[in-house]
Amino acid sequence: MQFITVKTYEELSRKAANIIAAQIIQKPECVLGLATGSTPLGAYDGLVKKYQDGELDFSTVTSVNLDEYAGLDGTNDQSYRYFMDTNLFNKVNIDKAKTHVPNGCAEDLAAEGARYDALIAELGGIDLQLLGIGLDGHIGFNEPDDCFTKETHEVELDPSTIEANARFFASIDDVPTSAITMGMQAIMQAKKVLLIANGAGKKEIVEKSFFGPITPQVPASILQLHPDVTVIFSEN
Ligand code: PGA
Repeated sequence: MQFITVKTYEELSRKAANIIAAQIIQKPECVLGLATGSTPLGAYDGLVKKYQDGELDFSTVTSVNLDEYAGLDGTNDQSYRYFMDTNLFNKVNIDKAKTHVPNGCAEDLAAEGARYDALIAELGGIDLQLLGIGLDGHIGFNEPDDCFTKETHEVELDPSTIEANARFFASIDDVPTSAITMGMQAIMQAKKVLLIANGAGKKEIVEKSFFGPITPQVPASILQLHPDVTVIFSEN
C-alpha cells in the first residue's frame, strides 16, 4: 500500500486526477471504476481541465460506477447517474454508451447485480478503481456487516450513511434507505485501487481501515489485502 498524506483538498484532487490521467494515457482502452460523493469532485474537475487542454482523450475509455440509490433513475438529480453525467461524462468526450452505472430502478435488484457483475467480467475487470470512504468505513455502499459480500447486491443503508448523505437532499426523509452496490469481488479484482479521503473527520476511519484489523465491520479494511492500493488522505 502506498499511503500519501497531503495538506489540502486541492493537493489531493490534483494527485488523484494525475493518477487517473496516467491510467488513461497508459491504456487508452482502460476500464475505470468510478465513485460519487463530494470527495471525487475536485479530481473530476481536474480531469475535465486536462481534457479541455487537449491532454486527455476519453473516447476509448469505459467506466463502471460503484453504486446507485434504489428507486432513483438517471433523470433524478440525486441519482448517481445524474451526478456522473453532470460532473464528468457530459464535460469530456467519453462515449456515454460505455459508461455504466447499476440500475437502481431495476425491478429485480438481485438480477441487476448479476447483470452488472457479468458486464464487469465481460469487460475484463477494472483497471483502476477510484474509491471514497464513508464515515463507517463503507466503500461503494458496502456497509459494515458480519461478512464481506462478493457480488453486486442490494443493501440497506446504514443510518450514519443516510445522515451523512442527507446534506444532498431537501430533507433526510428524501434519502433512499437502500441502494445497489458493487460487491467486494469486483473491487478487489481491480488491478489498481485509488482511495481518496478528505479532512480530519475521516482520519479515524482511515486509520482503522488501513492500520487496524481486517474485518467486515470496517469494510474498507479488506483493501489491506489488495496488492496495489494507493490511499491519498488530506488532513484539512
Ligand atoms: P464523501 O462520501 O466523498 O461525500 O465523503 C464518501 C463515501 O460515502 O463513500
